[in-house]
Amino acid sequence: MCCRSTIKTNRLNNYCQKIDTRCLGLFPNEKISYKIFVLVIVTMGFLQNVQAKSDYLDSNLSSEERVSLLLKEMKLDEKIGQMCQYVGEASEGSIETQDTKLDYTLGLGERAGLIRDGKVGSFLKVASYREANILQELAAESRLKIPLLIATDALHGHGMYSDPATLYATEIGLASSFDTGLAEAVARSTAIEMRATGYHWAFSPNIEVVRDPRWGRFGETFGEDPYLVTQMGNAMVRGYQGENFNGQENVIASAKHFVGGGIAYNGVNGASADISERTLQEIFFPPFLGAIESGVYTIMPAHNDINGIPSHAHARYLTDLIRKQWGFKGFYISDWKDIARLQSVHKVVETEEAASQLAVLAGMDMNMHGPGFFDHIKSAVLAEKIPLHRIDDAVSKILYAKFQLGLFENRYVDKVQLEKTVLRKEHLDLALESARKSLVLLKNNNTFLPLATNVSRILVTGPGANNQTILGEWSRLQPEDNVVTVLEGIESVASNKTKVDFLPIDGYGEIDDSIIKKAAKMAAKSDVAVVVVGENSLRFDKDKTSGENLDRPSLELVGDQLALLKIIKSQGVPLVVVLINGGPIASEWLVENADAIIEAWEPGMFGGQAIAEAIFGLYNPGGRLPITVPRSVGHLQSYYNHKPSAFHRGGFYQSSRSPLFEFGFGLSYTQFQYSDLQMRKTVDPEADMELSVILKNTGVVAGDEVVLVYLNDKVSSVTTPVRKLVAFDRVHLKAGEKRKMKLNISKDHFKLLDVDMKIVLEPGEFEVVIGDDRLIETIIAH
Ligand code: BGC
Repeated sequence: MCCRSTIKTNRLNNYCQKIDTRCLGLFPNEKISYKIFVLVIVTMGFLQNVQAKSDYLDSNLSSEERVSLLLKEMKLDEKIGQMCQYVGEASEGSIETQDTKLDYTLGLGERAGLIRDGKVGSFLKVASYREANILQELAAESRLKIPLLIATDALHGHGMYSDPATLYATEIGLASSFDTGLAEAVARSTAIEMRATGYHWAFSPNIEVVRDPRWGRFGETFGEDPYLVTQMGNAMVRGYQGENFNGQENVIASAKHFVGGGIAYNGVNGASADISERTLQEIFFPPFLGAIESGVYTIMPAHNDINGIPSHAHARYLTDLIRKQWGFKGFYISDWKDIARLQSVHKVVETEEAASQLAVLAGMDMNMHGPGFFDHIKSAVLAEKIPLHRIDDAVSKILYAKFQLGLFENRYVDKVQLEKTVLRKEHLDLALESARKSLVLLKNNNTFLPLATNVSRILVTGPGANNQTILGEWSRLQPEDNVVTVLEGIESVASNKTKVDFLPIDGYGEIDDSIIKKAAKMAAKSDVAVVVVGENSLRFDKDKTSGENLDRPSLELVGDQLALLKIIKSQGVPLVVVLINGGPIASEWLVENADAIIEAWEPGMFGGQAIAEAIFGLYNPGGRLPITVPRSVGHLQSYYNHKPSAFHRGGFYQSSRSPLFEFGFGLSYTQFQYSDLQMRKTVDPEADMELSVILKNTGVVAGDEVVLVYLNDKVSSVTTPVRKLVAFDRVHLKAGEKRKMKLNISKDHFKLLDVDMKIVLEPGEFEVVIGDDRLIETIIAH
């Protein structure tokens, strides 16, 4: 009988054979035979049990089947454990400083025991593949051997990884490229480097729409336009997750932060956001809805409260809206310690225990760091304050990701594969492409640029000229050889007849008088000065001027940078300004006095090369602004898609009300001509509007053009923006080349939220504006 049962392991086979030998006696003694019979029955039960237990390890089953089998095996502690995320290297026990597994495990302290007990689901801030492997080994020692999900802030490359990696232009630069294919490729190659090094989850993309550029995190967003942010966010989700995040080259993405951080009180990170329900639906929600439609598997709520309700406790949004209405299938990860902050910061509950309970009941599935969470949830479940099905629901989603990603089969890093993958040629080429495509030429007085390669003497200076500030936020410093600074780029691209003088400026604060004088002297002897100014958002730099938790009280150049520019300009030398920054720089002096301005954002590891190529005309910049650059901080809020009343009366005392640069602005070394706009003249509520236009490069050099299509609802029952972006495309045309561009306006863009907050299409006229206002067509909805 025993032999008929299916037995998989050798150990169990041996056990069974022993019983069989006794069975051969064919019950000579009834008492013994009865005992044997009982033993056989018990053993069968045991064997079936063991068989069932190992089924979730069967990779032939679907992830859904494996989740349900595993869930049946799990004890309450193990389930709640999956909802807990802890930090790795932030502790003293970093493998970087203590190089044995034992030392690292000791450094982890209590966390090592928690992993072995199956009470941890995920880790973040893991510095290297060595740490990732050790953490997974500890997880493999746990009863159910559930692997850990290892997360990192890989926003524009695997920048928080402690070994070298490929670093691309930051999100604001990618947005300026208006190239969704580029954004998707950047996320794809980031995912590939992440998986090769043991990471499975990118806390990216940041798809918050930003209306207050004082926010120090501007550079990690796609700017101010909901449509552009949505398209870029969707592209990155596709890039990270691939098809269903299945396999060895995909990671899960995290759409963050839901919602309103880009318009928080005073632009301060984490401060309250008061946003009308209409503005939420029209401006701030669309990127999240888009990410869900693109399959994003995790969402991170924002630090802030929205209209008085902290994002992490917002049941109406997390559960009713996002899950039930929008159909989000993945799981929520809290932002850093934000569940506990429901008590300590937002003060909506009296205890941390109540905070954990409130968040989980609102829909939160995983807690980002904080040891109390486990105990709070356990006692709430035991006291029946949180139903077990809420826990099962959270855990199932987390386990699903682990099965889909193939972690049960492949949890360790293969060093050989890693070496073949990280910094591979396609990734490096893409890094250069991202830097080139994100450049925006803001000013070019009398076509001063490009410079002739044989210009005889160039002064290069400014605090951003020769360092890694080009990498931007969420980056560690990279080996010098892997990064091309602006100075290095210019030195390598300029002809060897050109003398490049370099004056180092140390930091973004005060510049010593003697240096200012030296700058003047050197400028007087130069044919041109290239001055690299802006911001420093390098994550771990003591000299940083913006970034997470470092917001900007002014949008002017910080420290003495303007004084440096002024003294150089006063020498009569042509001034080329390169801006390295995350958020916009609002400097009227700069715009009036520079001969050329290149907005380079934080262009990544090959930023210096791309900038130099643009200065000398080896590359023709074609990016456009994904934001409005205001005249000053006092001109905020300042965004292009404002309501018609924004400027209908008066203006600012002694100041123009127009921005320094409009959203969508960007120059080129060539010119493009638009003609023959073709489209239906009436709106079909059931179909997208197709349009085509003939685009011709009429200049003498090749270049990229970003075609932007705006829509204006001329008269509507509620106020609507003066224009909104509804389609875009970027194309490369050789000199003289002509192309028919085809674009699509989604039918949804013609609809609005009426006075009752219903989505309707109202009859009336719409204006379609294309090619920087060069072609305008009026169409009608009946
Ligand atoms: C940030 C998140 C980030 C997390 C983990 C938080 O402070 O707001 O965007 O993913 O830290 O580093």
